[in-house]
Amino acid sequence: MNALPAPTPSSAAPLSELPVTEDRGSGRIAGTDLTVAFKSRAGRNTALENVSFAVGGGEFVALLGPSGCGKSTLLNVIAGIVQPTGGSVAIDGVAVSRPQPKCGVVFQQHSLFPWMTVLENVAFGPQMLGFADPLGAARKLLRTVGLEGYEAAWPESLSGGMKQRVGIARALAVNPPVLLMDEPFGALDAQTRSIMQEELLKLWSEFHSTIVFVTHDIDEAIFLSDRILVMKTSPGGIRQEIVVDIPRPRGPEVIGSEAFRRIRQRIFGLIREETLKVFRAGGASGS
Ligand SMILES: Nc1ncnc2c1ncn2[C@@H]1O[C@H](COP(=O)(O)OP(=O)(O)OP(=O)(O)O)[C@@H](O)[C@H]1O
Ligand SMILES: [Mg+2]
Repeated sequence: MNALPAPTPSSAAPLSELPVTEDRGSGRIAGTDLTVAFKSRAGRNTALENVSFAVGGGEFVALLGPSGCGKSTLLNVIAGIVQPTGGSVAIDGVAVSRPQPKCGVVFQQHSLFPWMTVLENVAFGPQMLGFADPLGAARKLLRTVGLEGYEAAWPESLSGGMKQRVGIARALAVNPPVLLMDEPFGALDAQTRSIMQEELLKLWSEFHSTIVFVTHDIDEAIFLSDRILVMKTSPGGIRQEIVVDIPRPRGPEVIGSEAFRRIRQRIFGLIREETLKVFRAGGASGS
């Protein structure tokens, strides 16, 4: 992977300068009895069964679990991209039935428009929503994610980590009350990943959207979130909720703390059991 320029938080544009589309008290998510079954050649695949959960406005919640347990499916249901077979999801009391600007999504694989420059990619959402100064908002966001100077670049010329940062800027550009992130740092090297985690927490402390963050990584989930929903397999669902009672602001030093170790130990046992279940069932995808 190419070396990434370090993000430049000192030159970051405060997100409070960006157009506000929603009251910050918003962004509550409620899922009720969600079931998602996919039809495949092998038959019916129940990715999620009877999943209920609630996320508070401005809360940071991680979805953690082994490959194939339905993390992306659950995120896509919240985003309105996948329709559940049963049950429903609502944001601020309004049922979700299609993708909407209230939800910014950062996908597992970056999904930039290859025919647009970096700046145009980030400005696209604000343009579509009729914001007053889409290019200005996009420039500020690119500064915030440490990509000032890359406005005119084409996505194909960027490293994987830089593309992901553009994806994050693009999701934030419409200042959404809900930000859904599917393993956004999965392709990054350990050092860059750690810097990006800290940057995300700084951004979140400013804009305070509700964040649902999918990850395989136990330490990443603990470091970032208020609460972790540990998922289970066969069928997919939520096995246990873990509250992360580690004070904020958090820096890398919290990883060595007793509280961090205690939570890691607890989650490790749960994930190991679920991962073994996947292997015994012969369903490990290796992703
Ligand atoms: N479009 C689809 N069609 C058929 N089956 C699907 C589809 N999307 C997901 N699945 C199945 O649903 C289950 C959950 O998949 P999902 O992608 O949500 O898992 P995940 O937890 O995000 O895994 P990973 O950690 O590997 O990204 C898997 O068995 C998968 O094969
Ligand atoms: Mg996934």
